[in-house]
Parts: sequence; structure tokens; C-alpha cells
Amino acid sequence: MELPTNPDELEARARERLPEPVYHYYAGGAEDERTLAANVEAFRSVFLRPRVLVDVAGVDPSVELFGRRLALPVLLAPTAFQKLADPEGEAATARAAGRVGTVMVASSLSTLPIEAIARAATGPLWLQLYVFRNRALAEALVARAEAAGVEALCLTVTVPVQGNRERDRVHGFGLPEGLTMANFEGAQARFPDAAGSSLEAFIASQFDPSLTWDALAWLRSLTALPVVVKGVQTGEDARLAVEHGAAGVIVSNHGGRQLDGARATLHALPEVAEAVDGRVPVLVDGGVRRGVDVLVARALGARAVLIGRPYLWGLAAAGEAGVEHVLTTFRDEVARALALVGRRNLEEVDRSLLAGAP
Ligand code: FNR
Ligand code: LAC
Repeated sequence: MELPTNPDELEARARERLPEPVYHYYAGGAEDERTLAANVEAFRSVFLRPRVLVDVAGVDPSVELFGRRLALPVLLAPTAFQKLADPEGEAATARAAGRVGTVMVASSLSTLPIEAIARAATGPLWLQLYVFRNRALAEALVARAEAAGVEALCLTVTVPVQGNRERDRVHGFGLPEGLTMANFEGAQARFPDAAGSSLEAFIASQFDPSLTWDALAWLRSLTALPVVVKGVQTGEDARLAVEHGAAGVIVSNHGGRQLDGARATLHALPEVAEAVDGRVPVLVDGGVRRGVDVLVARALGARAVLIGRPYLWGLAAAGEAGVEHVLTTFRDEVARALALVGRRNLEEVDRSLLAGAP
């Protein structure tokens, strides 16, 4: 059966195949899900100023990032526990990203170890890190990632404590029998048997809420890989990230899963881009659903974007082919949108594309 290009239809297709607690874990956000909705709504409220009669016979949707040319300016954001969506899990995602030509950011909470994901990957692979109270776990994982050929690290800073995800509590979300946090096998990093959401109990017991900017220096001392900070939402923090040696920043509110009431990432992007002032690449995620959204993010200062739920829906609907479908759909939509706004490539996209501020 052909897969829909409409993101809502693909979500519906995925939902038919997922157990209810997993669907809600993927789809849900914190509390009243204001931020989750705002991320999407922010893109929908922007309108464009297309130019016409430009030669767009050879539009090019590719982008350069850390010395790599990506086929499209859309990376796969880290998402935990992908075997919940498909038996191949993270390996399916890695193969699809490689085939289309973009970066997969593997979550540290993956259901395959980073070595297995790296073996499946044929394109650039990054690893996202959570720093646990037991710092030795991150240290060991960084060394393994480097040995496996991971090209960059991504330090997620949006989870000092877990957001209040009521859907997960209602549905008793937890990892089913047989799935593990494969990067930490043998370590004391198992889900406790807790009532309610066992992920919440895990984060409360393992994540280090005392983390500060020193953690970035510590991480950089462990590795020569570029470290990108994911979850910056203000100009102040963007400046601190660059001062502490971040190789890039990702404007992210964790897809509305953490602080409900955080503004839409598209609205945080301009002040972050201004504070960074071109010193390192700025990326953004949250609510990107169509190729046009990528152009809007670009116009407001993002080199590229990441997507989370859209490719999880692809993975749940059709495994590796589903993720590939989502990525090729984005690539085609970005190319079509460029042609329709009279820009030949992403370098030509700037604020003049936008009809007013978002
Ligand atoms: C996430 N996200 C996330 N981020 C991270 O740094 N590490 C992780 O393990 C996860 N896990 C995770 C699981 C699920 C099910 C979702 C939906 C999201 C956040 C993710 O990287 C990204 O910031 C958002 O998903 C972007 O928003 P959209 O594209 O889903 O709207
Ligand atoms: C989440 C965590 C695992 O968003 O990052 O579910």
C-alpha cells in the first residue's frame, strides 16, 4: 500500500500499527501540550513572498554541515527506543538516512547499541548524550562512539528532570519485556518496576539534575568530536554554549515533551541566531512537518532542521522504507518549495522570503 505524503495521514497509518501506550509516548507532550501544538502552529502562521521568473531549472536542496554535504537540510533527531516502532529499530533508521543522504542522530537511549547502529549506517551518524549521575557511563559511551565512527556528539540539555507527561502515566508507558537500553547493558541503567511511567522513574533515578555548563567542558575533554548542544532556547544560553566550545546549537524544546509553556522553537530561533552571529551552525527542531517549514527555518537563521515524530511515524508505518519515504518526501518538498519561491538553493533563502515576522 502506498504511503501518504500527508504527515497527519502517515501518523494515522502508524497509529493503527502501534500499541496505544507507545502511540501516546511518541505523540504526546508535557501537561496541556501547549508547546507541542505551538511548535507546529508557529510554522503554519508564517506566509511567504515568492519571487517569480527566476531560472529554477536546477534547484539544489542540499546543505553543508561540518564538512559534509547532505542531500537535504533535514536531519533525524534523536528519539529513544525505536524497536517500539519496528523490530529493526535504530538499524532501519540508520539505513534509510544513509540511503537518502542525511545525518541520523542516535539517541543514547537506543534499543540497539551504538556499534550496531554504526554498522547499519552508510551515512553520517551522530550520538546524542544524556549525562547520568554515574559519569563513567557517558565516558565509556563516548569512547565507544568514537571507535564506532560516530562523527559528532549532541548533548541534550532539556531534561534535568522529566517533563510531566500525563499520557504516559495514564497508559503506564514502559519498555516491554525483551527491549533494553542497549548502550548500558550490564550497568545499573534498567527501568525500575514502577507504577505509572517507568521512564519517568528511570530519569528521576539516573539523570543528573545538577549538570551545568561545566559538563560541556568535561565532555569536550573526553573527545575530539564536535559537540553540539541540543535544547538552547534563548540568546543568553546560545552565547554561553558558544563560549563553552559548542560546535553547534540546536534550538529545541524537546518537541514539547519537557517544559509545557516554552515558546515555539521557531519563535526562539531568531534571537539564538542573532546571539550566535554565525560563529557556529544553528539548527532547529520541533514542529517541522513540510518542506516549506524548512525554508522558513532557514530564513530565520537555521542552517538545517531536525525532525522527530514525522520519521517515527514512517518507521512505525513501514519500517526502513517508511523512514526513507519521509526523507525523500521532505527532499522533494524542499526542492519544490525552492522552485516555487524562486530560489535556486538554500543559500538564496533569507528573511526577504517572509511576509512579516512570525
Ligand atoms: C524525543 N526526543 C529526544 N531527544 C533527545 O535528545 N533524546 C531522546 O532520547 C529523545 N527521545 C525522544 C523520543 C520521542 C518519542 C520523541 C517524539 C522525541 C526529542 C527529539 O529529539 C526532538 O527534539 C523532537 O522530537 C522534535 O520535535 P518534532 O519533530 O517531533 O515535532
Ligand atoms: C523522551 C526522552 C527519552 O523524550 O528523551 O522521551
